[in-house]
Amino acid sequence: MSATQEHRSLLGRRTVVAAVGAAGAAAALTACGGGSDDAGGSGTVEQPGSGGEKQGGAVLAATADIPEGGGMVFAAQKVVVTQPKPGEFKAFSSTCTHQGCAVKDVSAGTITCPCHNSTFDAATGSPTGGPATQPLPAREITVEGDSIRLA
Ligand code: FES
Repeated sequence: MSATQEHRSLLGRRTVVAAVGAAGAAAALTACGGGSDDAGGSGTVEQPGSGGEKQGGAVLAATADIPEGGGMVFAAQKVVVTQPKPGEFKAFSSTCTHQGCAVKDVSAGTITCPCHNSTFDAATGSPTGGPATQPLPAREITVEGDSIRLA
């Protein structure tokens, strides 16, 4: 008699374990599906496609906004636009190549990162001082009339 009770008890326990196992597997499958969807989505983000389809990317600024010998940092786009010579506009990533802070100030032909004072040439993005040793990567812009667009 007691053997039968033990057998039932074991059966019950097995059933519970199996149910939990199935739920766990389902949860794992769901998690995996979500993860792979995220990876696929992030890999295809190249162009925002909001407006400006005909003429490249969105308008960043007017040429008059960028001071000669200086520049402007566009935090949302993570880009810094400079005007090293009158009428000549350059753009670089605003992410410092030292430890990833956003560069902040552009003046007298120099882009400066506030975190550890790395400096970069506003015409080329090359490091000119501080701990950064790699140049700021160039970003493509187009100037049409008095509009500067991110390509
Ligand atoms: S992160 Fe820019 S100087 Fe260190």
